[in-house]
Amino acid sequence: MAIIEPTNQEIGAKRKGKKYAFSTRFWHLVNFVLISGSLFTVLINSTLFDRSQRTFVKNELINAGAAVSDKQAGAVTHGLEDQVWGIHIYFGYALAALFLFRLIAEFFLTPAQRLFPKLKKAYQAYFILKKEREAAKHELVVKGLYVFFYLLLLIMVVTGLPLAFEDYTGICAKC
Ligand code: HEM
Repeated sequence: MAIIEPTNQEIGAKRKGKKYAFSTRFWHLVNFVLISGSLFTVLINSTLFDRSQRTFVKNELINAGAAVSDKQAGAVTHGLEDQVWGIHIYFGYALAALFLFRLIAEFFLTPAQRLFPKLKKAYQAYFILKKEREAAKHELVVKGLYVFFYLLLLIMVVTGLPLAFEDYTGICAKC
């Protein structure tokens, strides 16, 4: 069996089926939307509003009868790019808020639903008690991946926020 093949069996549970809190499922859905939206803004800026599009903008304006320099065409693409970054930053704020929400939620979930107790239980089952090793290995890998994902999210938030507040932090995205 592949180690991350879907399973709905909890370690030590008599019945099949995993219970995730509504807040966790809601968090997951909103997170998916925000991360996708954030990636979409990056995609737009690295394609449609990339510096290389300056020539395209210049040619379109010239074809429309305007006399435009490279610098002026660059200012247009740059302005559009900035607007999309503005949206990216709103997605970023929402992601940061969700991350905080997830941290706080961890304290209000039942022990059976919390990440670190689950990880500890899987670790003990696999390495110490050596029981239900297949399910324990699966749980260990999956929860390990969750921790990795949260670490990535943490890095995004702690590196993105200082950029978003560059007036206060002095950390500039374009310098
Ligand atoms: C899914 C998560 C995220 C991804 C994949 C992502 C990706 C990126 C990328 C690729 C850039 C361009 C960097 C460059 O041009 O060198 C960027 C810029 C930026 N990101 Fe994010 N980011 C994410 C989350 C966040 C968060 C949580 C914030 C916090 C508010 C944030 C704020 C910013 C800011 C302020 C910039 C600079 C925009 C500018 O140049 O004006 N990002 N991001």
